[in-house]
Amino acid sequence: MNVVLLGAPGAGKGTQAQRIKDAHGLPHIATGDILRAAVAAGTEVGLKAKSFMDKGALVPDEVVVAIVADRIAQPDCANGWLLDGFPRTAGQAEALDKTIADQGLKPIDAVVYLKVSEEVVVERLSGRRVCPNTSCGAAYHVKYMKPKEEGICDRCGEKIIQRKDDNAETVKERLKTYESQTADLIDRYSKAGLLVEVSSEGGPDEVGNQVLALLEDKK
Ligand code: AP5
Repeated sequence: MNVVLLGAPGAGKGTQAQRIKDAHGLPHIATGDILRAAVAAGTEVGLKAKSFMDKGALVPDEVVVAIVADRIAQPDCANGWLLDGFPRTAGQAEALDKTIADQGLKPIDAVVYLKVSEEVVVERLSGRRVCPNTSCGAAYHVKYMKPKEEGICDRCGEKIIQRKDDNAETVKERLKTYESQTADLIDRYSKAGLLVEVSSEGGPDEVGNQVLALLEDKK
């Protein structure tokens, strides 16, 4: 199954990706995680991406399109993939369609749109804490998803931190960027008959159960 997760910053894409990944055994491809790992490693892509990410802007299409085209061609994606945070522009959506056609891959089965208000997003992002270990990357929330031991990642034992772009000013910019460059994709995928809309305002399990039930219908 080929699934795309769409939604504003903090809508819960990463959180629900874990559930979909566990239920369907799909490789989770999160462009934000890939870019953060590139920044941490100081690679050429990381050096290009850093300034955009720090100010809440999108990294240029050609950079992310190349990353995704390469990733979904890997053998572990042969039976499907789960894209989180890509596409985010009309150009990226077109490039994804082209990659799928050029590589002879199966088309997208569903685009899960996690709908959430700006108020909820701001609360979620200001309270988010993440594991900085790039091979783990678990996310927590100071109120809604606390680790078992305060300040420590349940999965790998690393000290959890606040993401650099989760400060109030950058969150405001990320939301603006989402509205101006990404929100139109909702209409695009709705017209294509691929959109599965879920309110992401309930708790993580409630939202997850709805997402998984709706994906069953798209199988
Ligand atoms: P990216 O890392 O993709 O960030 P984002 O889209 O802003 O999304 P987030 O990771 O902030 O939120 P999320 O929806 O995954 O929410 P989460 O599950 O963590 O991108 C970062 C940057 O990279 C971009 O700004 C851009 O510069 C660049 N980039 C990435 N992709 C790109 C692309 N395709 N093109 C160009 N540039 C790109 O949840 C948030 C918090 O809420 C957590 O604390 C969680 O515990 C909590 N939470 C989640 N669900 C619930 C719930 N149901 N109830 C209560 N709490 C919840």
